[in-house]
Amino acid sequence: KLKIAILASGEGSNFQELIDLSNSNKFDIDIKILITNKSEAGCISRAKNSNISYKVIKSSDYENKDYFENEIINTIKKQDIELVVMAGWMKIMSSKFVNEFKNKIINIHPSLLPSFKGSNAIKEAITNDAKITGCSVHFVEPEVDSGPLIMQAALAISDKDNLETITQKLHILEHKVLPLSISQAGYIIRNKFMGND
Ligand code: GAR
Repeated sequence: KLKIAILASGEGSNFQELIDLSNSNKFDIDIKILITNKSEAGCISRAKNSNISYKVIKSSDYENKDYFENEIINTIKKQDIELVVMAGWMKIMSSKFVNEFKNKIINIHPSLLPSFKGSNAIKEAITNDAKITGCSVHFVEPEVDSGPLIMQAALAISDKDNLETITQKLHILEHKVLPLSISQAGYIIRNKFMGND
């Protein structure tokens, strides 16, 4: 089983999908730990309900960003993790952090990258009157929302859509695309396609 750590800041519906697939034995992953930077995040109860170990690491509890990130790095390194998955992780991480997990960290983002980078991707698609959006999973590189794409799925936007309907439809897509991307990333990592050690 692919040993993964999840980083999440929110509701955790993507995390839940990974839990469900893993429990159904249709998907060979072992979720070793959830790390969240929000003490009230919905993902925490999902971890509790499924007996997955979790840790809340809030940046405000640390003197600076370096200490905050070091705590996350140490927590991940204590486990035997093969892949770090940002599933709704809303904090921008430093190059130092990203390079610790070079080629072993992926992120899901609610747009067709390189369009609509940043934390308001769905709103921006609407404001820009986009007729199509989607979701992307990519290996994380120091520059925000960039790095080699693993998979994307597109979603047509109709005149009847709004923030809520698009968010809901994107979640359905994301729940398909993230597991497939994890499989793909696991394959790449284990077969050393990216020149990683
Ligand atoms: C997802 O739509 C994900 O693409 C997005 O946060 C949502 C988390 O949903 N991530 C970003 O915007 C990253 N910049 P979830 O907590 O229900 O999985």
